[in-house]
Amino acid sequence: MNYRDFKGTAIAEVGLGTWQLGSADWGNINEDDAINILKTYTDAGGNFLDTADVYGMGVSETVIGKFLKAVNHPVYVATKLGRRGDAPNGWPQNFTYDAMKRQTEDSLRHLDIPRLFLEQLHCIPTTELQSGKVFDHLRSLQQQGLITHFGASVETSEEALICLEQEGLASLQIIFNLFRQHVADEVFARAAKKGVAIIVRVPLASGLLSGRFDAQTQFAANDHRNYNANGDAFNAGETFSGIEFKEGITLADKIKNLLPDNRMPQWAIRWILDHPEVTTVIPGASKMAQVNSNVEASFLPHLPEAIHKDLRELYNAEIYDKIRGHF
Ligand SMILES: NC(=O)c1ccc[n+]([C@@H]2O[C@H](COP(=O)([O-])OP(=O)(O)OC[C@H]3O[C@@H](n4cnc5c(N)ncnc54)[C@H](OP(=O)(O)O)[C@@H]3O)[C@@H](O)[C@H]2O)c1
Repeated sequence: MNYRDFKGTAIAEVGLGTWQLGSADWGNINEDDAINILKTYTDAGGNFLDTADVYGMGVSETVIGKFLKAVNHPVYVATKLGRRGDAPNGWPQNFTYDAMKRQTEDSLRHLDIPRLFLEQLHCIPTTELQSGKVFDHLRSLQQQGLITHFGASVETSEEALICLEQEGLASLQIIFNLFRQHVADEVFARAAKKGVAIIVRVPLASGLLSGRFDAQTQFAANDHRNYNANGDAFNAGETFSGIEFKEGITLADKIKNLLPDNRMPQWAIRWILDHPEVTTVIPGASKMAQVNSNVEASFLPHLPEAIHKDLRELYNAEIYDKIRGHF
């Protein structure tokens, strides 16, 4: 595993997304399987986990907390706040200082650690980012020692640029993949100039960019790839990167034909890592084998420039116009 700098800490360039561990949004993964997925990742040299207070309403964080007790080297956990709907939380109540402190303390309790490595705003309304008060609250939590760093997970380049004006912002988490290439043009140079880490989520477009789905593939009713396939529950961009499923299969096939060989998930992640402004990419996994496959991307050579060029031309000509949702 190769590591990249996150504000003075060497973190794995291939992290692990853990939305899968604890929520029903990807089918049910029991605790033993979740622990095995985490262990597979850290055994492969991984040390960066992304979770959120709402993944299984604390289940993902709690499983990670249990797992951390058995690991004897540092593992850096990034969590998120801002999307809880349980009373007295909810929108816009989630964004007061008291609510953000309470939510941070809940995450610390679930993880059973005294301080968070990274607390991220979890795709909160643009108006809250613009007002900037949420960042004052995060700076207060940092001064009190509850969090080491703070960052923001955002939906759009516009939101990313708003966050980049904030003093002390450590990271931006954004969707960036072969179905969402233009983010590099709009955000990366500015983030690099400000020394802000880029955390890339949804790198495989919810699995579409693994190349293993076909028109017969079906998802369970409680899997977001079923109930949010067209953005009915939350931003369409978080499911298949905003690309309509059947269209996505055709486009994934075209991408596959441009890659050096049939290791499509690995090359899709390698393509992301070839951007030096990226600090870490956080593929989710529901199986141990997927973790090993995704980590392999760290050991692949850079894709040749000619392939980068072809992939960008395909994106400009056939993909960009098909992205749906708020992006
Ligand atoms: N708003 C936010 O801040 C936000 C939103 C979304 C995600 N995230 C974070 O980003 C992480 C990654 O995004 P994501 O999980 O939504 O999407 P993703 O990483 O693009 O896709 C993950 C899915 O792709 C499939 N997959 C993974 N590795 C594979 C491999 N090697 N071969 C074949 N299939 C593979 C699996 O599908 P199956 O389970 O069907 O096998 C897996 O569940 C999440 O876990 C979460 O931590 C944050």
